[in-house]
Amino acid sequence: MPATDLRPAPATPALYDVEAVRRDFPILSQRIAGKPLVYLDSAATSQKPQAVIDAVSRFYAAGNANVHRGVYRLSEAATAAYEGARSRVAAFLNAPSAREVVFTRGTTESINLVAQSFLRPRLRPGDEILLTEMEHHSNIVPWQLVAAQTGALLRVAPISDDGELDVGALGALLGERTRLVSIAHISNALGTINPIERITALAHARGIPVLVDGAQSAPHLAADIRAFGCDFFACSSHKMFGPTGVGVLYGRAELLEQMPPWQGGGDMIASVTFEQSTWAAIPSKFEAGTPDIAGVIGLGAAVDYLSALDRGAVAAHEAGILDYAATRLAEVPGVRLIGTAARKASVQSFVMQGAHPHDIATILDADGVCIRAGHHCTQPLMARMGVPATARASFALYSTTADVDALIAGLDRVRRVMGL
Ligand SMILES: Cc1ncc(COP(=O)(O)O)c(C=O)c1O
Repeated sequence: MPATDLRPAPATPALYDVEAVRRDFPILSQRIAGKPLVYLDSAATSQKPQAVIDAVSRFYAAGNANVHRGVYRLSEAATAAYEGARSRVAAFLNAPSAREVVFTRGTTESINLVAQSFLRPRLRPGDEILLTEMEHHSNIVPWQLVAAQTGALLRVAPISDDGELDVGALGALLGERTRLVSIAHISNALGTINPIERITALAHARGIPVLVDGAQSAPHLAADIRAFGCDFFACSSHKMFGPTGVGVLYGRAELLEQMPPWQGGGDMIASVTFEQSTWAAIPSKFEAGTPDIAGVIGLGAAVDYLSALDRGAVAAHEAGILDYAATRLAEVPGVRLIGTAARKASVQSFVMQGAHPHDIATILDADGVCIRAGHHCTQPLMARMGVPATARASFALYSTTADVDALIAGLDRVRRVMGL
């Protein structure tokens, strides 16, 4: 089974106790406006299990000290917890070494780091950076900034009306001047799963490095850096059941070692004089200043939480919810699905004739149903799909068919309220 396949053949949803999983997430038992919370915005940020909340509060209650600095026991324990989280994240991503895991503020910062530290020194006027039409603004704007600084150009691989990447066209855009391919593993607005291994093989055949934006895949798929063969992989803790403010950049050691520091300050140096400074080894070279220690420890707890689950059963459960949602939504009069690729995960966008997505989301909110409405930080993709905005329901390991039923009931109310 390819590492990116969300639908394992022997589906075992019966073994997956979603109600037990839901009990791990205290927020899900909340009521909103007297109604049970129906949280269908996990692609924006996921909810947090008690284990993550406890890890963060335990650190502040009993373990708080700065890392990498103290020689006293509390600081040594904080350092061990922080570095232990790095090892667990490396194992979770199947990265060859924990030295290749840099903690950042999130996917956005990880991509900016690669743009400025890896790519900028390598770009000459007329060089090209290859993206796709389905990228999040975080995987467009950092490249625009570095292109403006160097005279490089963006090239964009097309997608079909279903939201499927045209891999042949992407291959044809790889050329002598291509310096990097940067691509989402899973589209946050369409849910499309891109064939990362194929794309990496195509790019590497021409010696071109690949960055994978894994913001939407890390929570759903068993990410496998070794199988992907990518050079960089970026993801965000808050989308994978961990705290906000923390992200990960995996980078191949050989490349990280060549890259200059991204920010200067404490903790990233080997020595400092007024004349000259030298840099710490990777990954510290890229972690200037006091990091979000509690956040990283919380991410470690999130990774432990995910790893303790049967990921195949989770994937089968999520695939079942997505199929159910797509089927039920398509039956609602006036609804058109946006994003109908063959291989998808956990996101269903839609538009409804006569109702703006913001109106839909506002009316659903009165029923305690949380969905996202807007361009989802993918304005070029919205233009490609011919819509200014969509409504988007997104799912996670705690989503249920009852959540989908509440969404459908809410849409019936939207139709009544708006006289459709
Ligand atoms: C595909 C994708 N890339 C990048 C990002 C940016 O992530 P963050 O805001 O956590 O840095 C997101 C967030 O929605 C995303 O969905």
